[in-house]
Amino acid sequence: MPAKSHADVKENSLEKSGQSQSSHENGKMQRSAKIQGNGKLQSNAKQQKNAGTGLSAGMDAAAFSERLASLSRNRTKKYVLQEGVPVPFLVDLGVMTAEGKVVKSRYDKFRQINRFLEFIEDVLPNLDPNRTNTIIDFGCGKSYLTFAMYYYLHVLKKYSIRVIGLDLKKDVIALCNRLSKKFEFENLTFLHGDIAGYEGVDQVDMVVTLHACDTATDYALAKAVKWGAKVILSVPCCQHEINKQIQNDLLSPVLQYGLLKERMSALLTDGIRGQLLEMSGYRTQILEFIDMEHTPKNIMIRAIRQGKKADGAALEAMMKELHVKPTLYGLLVGDE
Ligand SMILES: C[S@@+](CC[C@H](N)C(=O)[O-])C[C@H]1O[C@@H](n2cnc3c(N)ncnc32)[C@H](O)[C@@H]1O
Repeated sequence: MPAKSHADVKENSLEKSGQSQSSHENGKMQRSAKIQGNGKLQSNAKQQKNAGTGLSAGMDAAAFSERLASLSRNRTKKYVLQEGVPVPFLVDLGVMTAEGKVVKSRYDKFRQINRFLEFIEDVLPNLDPNRTNTIIDFGCGKSYLTFAMYYYLHVLKKYSIRVIGLDLKKDVIALCNRLSKKFEFENLTFLHGDIAGYEGVDQVDMVVTLHACDTATDYALAKAVKWGAKVILSVPCCQHEINKQIQNDLLSPVLQYGLLKERMSALLTDGIRGQLLEMSGYRTQILEFIDMEHTPKNIMIRAIRQGKKADGAALEAMMKELHVKPTLYGLLVGDE
């Protein structure tokens, strides 16, 4: 079993949250709560969401503010990379100022990196501590995450790791290699190339992707399976393929709405990916990556190799019914 964690808390649901997740709601409540003439907070429906936070309708304003400030401090503490502590590569990549302040327009990225690091922290027990582990970030782009993984695992936690970032963009890869050299991150390298054709290594322990577009995620997952990578962490985006394929008489009244068809197709894509990984011997979870309010690209596929392959009959039947055949199916099962 993969280790239980804060990431697990939100599996398959937005509302199974404990205190750390509820704290996001507290920010909203702070904005919506009204102080009455007697200085107490007016009760409203949103207060139901404060269960377990120590906030209540009967609190006076001062106690309420103090509790909120405390929750807010706790929330800040949770980040692996903290605001206010300058991290040189984040400064060079334009996410932080030299003083360690997160650049406002880069806050979502900062939050995503930190969240991803939490997922990585959770899967560490699945890696072999007695040797150098190889990690690949497919579709690394400007490589905020790739640098952050190396910094967190090697510089802060002293793990022996090799990290490779791969992307189609030549200029961005050149920039990342310059930065890696500047910071003397000797086991962090960036390569220019297409995921589909990448053959640079024989063995990989963990494959990560963050918003690798459309079927690029499928090629990354297929590579991970081929290598028998122990861990896969993948946050997909732009899942357009199934949207062009899906046909189903029963669902046609709903599928006529383009927006819904697109969203259902994206969800189906990731569900099918999860099942294909199960069929390839991976225990797979679909988790919430980050709150919807920050990005709609908020699904994390977390897969840990266990060897036992799930039966694919039900998945095949569903795909047939919906007339869909995603790239990952072709790569892992075959086209026929
Ligand atoms: C939305 S960006 C995400 C970049 C980065 N992971 C991040 O989260 O900041 C997607 C990246 O995937 C890269 N990409 C898309 N298809 C690819 C492929 N087939 N092979 C390698 N990189 C690819 C793009 O060049 C782009 O940099």
